[in-house]
Amino acid sequence: MNRLPTLFIGLFVTFAAAWVGLVLFPYRELGDVQPVTDPFTGESHPRPYTENELAGRDVYRAEGCLYCHSQQVRGGRYNADIERGWGPRRSHPVDYIHDRPALLGTARIGPDLINIGAREPREMWHHLHLYNPAITSPGSNMPPFGYLYRTQRIGDEPSPDALPLEGAWAPPEGYEVVPTDRARALVAYLLSLDRTYNIPGTPDR
Ligand code: HEC
Repeated sequence: MNRLPTLFIGLFVTFAAAWVGLVLFPYRELGDVQPVTDPFTGESHPRPYTENELAGRDVYRAEGCLYCHSQQVRGGRYNADIERGWGPRRSHPVDYIHDRPALLGTARIGPDLINIGAREPREMWHHLHLYNPAITSPGSNMPPFGYLYRTQRIGDEPSPDALPLEGAWAPPEGYEVVPTDRARALVAYLLSLDRTYNIPGTPDR
């Protein structure tokens, strides 16, 4: 008996079902997600990234930050992400509309970073932490990213964005440590990670 038509119909149904489930349904559900407009200020959230923040996002990807850090506050009754202080509400598809691809991450060796710009808005804190996490967070097991900084001889005047390194961390006399463009972009990106705006009509968790 010739079973070829049955085989083809079977194959067709299998692929069509996968397409409906993986492409059509998600598209219908998420395809028209729009930025949220604040009724008081008229600002729209999330705002698009600047060129510099996008460059920082590339550094984030290249340096493998996402192997240790997620960018998603999970909801649900049995989840403690909100209690951990990672965000005021669970993440929503709108939070990622400017992310191609979204850097959700899979492991959480370190804390979630989707709201790190709100949690720690001090630029210099991030530079010191990246230069060596032990400076700001003693006992941290995050690797240092000192190679994103440059040690240079102090010119006529100290650079305004030299890192305030003291004690054992201080560079030799007459030298200063300054962020490279990559470090600057990376910190700009981290500070842009703030998805704490309210999304009307959605549950917080
Ligand atoms: C090997 C795993 C690992 C990698 C890779 C890593 N981190 Fe971390 N990170 C951690 C751990 C663990 C902590 C918690 C301790 C601390 O604050 O240093 C942390 C903390 C942080 C914090 C502070 C979070 C908070 O809530 O206080 C920031 C910001 C951060 N990391 C950014 C980065 C960036 C940017 C990169 C990539 C350049 C990176 N991390 C790479 C493990 C990692």
